[in-house]
Amino acid sequence: MPIAAAAGTQLRGGMAMVDKALGQGGRKSDKDLKIRVKTAKKRTVSSTKWLERQLNDPYVARARAEGYRSRAAFKIKEMDEKHKLFHKGTRVVDLGAAPGGWSQVAAKAVGSTDANPLVVGIDYLDMDPIPGVILLKKDFTEDDAPQMLIDAMGGKKADLVMSDMAWPTTGHRPTDHLRIVQLVEIAADFALDVLAPGGAFVAKVFQGGTEHELLHMLKRHFRSTFHAKPPSSRSDSAEAYLIAKGFKGRPEDSEDDSD
Ligand SMILES: C[S@@+](CC[C@H](N)C(=O)[O-])C[C@H]1O[C@@H](n2cnc3c(N)ncnc32)[C@H](O)[C@@H]1O
Repeated sequence: MPIAAAAGTQLRGGMAMVDKALGQGGRKSDKDLKIRVKTAKKRTVSSTKWLERQLNDPYVARARAEGYRSRAAFKIKEMDEKHKLFHKGTRVVDLGAAPGGWSQVAAKAVGSTDANPLVVGIDYLDMDPIPGVILLKKDFTEDDAPQMLIDAMGGKKADLVMSDMAWPTTGHRPTDHLRIVQLVEIAADFALDVLAPGGAFVAKVFQGGTEHELLHMLKRHFRSTFHAKPPSSRSDSAEAYLIAKGFKGRPEDSEDDSD
């Protein structure tokens, strides 16, 4: 199963061999799953479990019903409802955008149109076009990616940089953690370069992490910095979001952010 499956599940795709077994009461454990998936020759136990969870996930059903490409769309929606991230006219950069749920939510919330696009998304995966969103197919960690994003914004400053990026996991927790911290640091550095004063930064991190330096750096540059775990982020996932609001601006001479 691709890494995007963890939080940004693409909702189009083949039908599963399902066995409708009605569970009693709420969905609390595997025992209570309403739809059971039979193991198939080519399917591993973990992908069977993943498929079963997808088929029983109310957010997956809602995403399909409301036309979102991923259940992840609800994470940014819920964070916006609570922390007021989008306003009409907000310029947004979406890092790790595929399959496009966050960009869809952003475009609608800020009033972005093809004639006046306010949202730019980047991912190394292919994405179908989204009305009002400029999509770049590119690895964000490549040297020329930041400039490509700035060019796509017509050289204008952004009001919100949001990152749902995560590398494919290796299964070795400390390694995976270091890799995500590095990704968030690159995203944060980019945010400091492109945000307009008052702007905000949202990034996926993993709980129990060691992003202290990053947090310290963000605290110096933003008026408020905090963690969020939106209800649609699975409780059994270590995923959380770091939100920094009220960008103070980056002094021209502040080259060294390490303190
Ligand atoms: C959880 S998914 C994002 C889901 C998305 N927010 C949505 O609502 O549809 C994470 C995405 O980050 C992308 N990604 C990870 N590392 C990246 C990188 N270095 N450059 C660009 N995209 C990256 C992956 O390809 C994947 O599509």
